[in-house]
Amino acid sequence: MDPRSRRAEIGYSLAAEAWGQGYMNEALTALLDRGFSEFALNRVEADVDPRNTASIKCLARLGFALEGLLRQRWIVGGEVSDSAIYGLLRDEWVARRSASNPEPSAR
Ligand SMILES: CC(C)(COP(=O)(O)OP(=O)(O)OC[C@H]1O[C@@H](n2cnc3c(N)ncnc32)[C@H](O)[C@@H]1OP(=O)(O)O)[C@@H](O)C(=O)NCCC(=O)NCCS
Repeated sequence: MDPRSRRAEIGYSLAAEAWGQGYMNEALTALLDRGFSEFALNRVEADVDPRNTASIKCLARLGFALEGLLRQRWIVGGEVSDSAIYGLLRDEWVARRSASNPEPSAR
């Protein structure tokens, strides 16, 4: 987290037997709600291996946008990989949440 820029980076991992059941979507929704309200974040970002389809789907489902590709950014155990940078802005999250949870209409 960089408090002066009101920015945070997320990372996440689930045990394989828990994949495909929506748990990470639920957990990240709660985390983002808290981050953008209690911690007043303006931006949340994620650095993902572009081959990691499950993680990219997870971010896309939450409204993250692909912002760029950093080539050969990591070398882990001799394997070179790129970073796809995904970002979500506070205004985008607020609009998305109010669209999915509209205020009850006044009677
Ligand atoms: C990335 C990771 C957390 C994604 O997990 P996931 O289970 O695919 O993510 P979600 O919790 O968002 O679940 C989405 C899936 O659950 C399904 N789902 C959503 N709600 C559901 C529910 N109530 N009941 C059953 N299934 C549900 C969705 O349809 C979706 O399936 P699909 O991908 O076939 O469309 C997981 O693959 C992981 O831990 N990987 C290893 C670590 C890693 O790569 N971390 C990211 C590094 S950048």
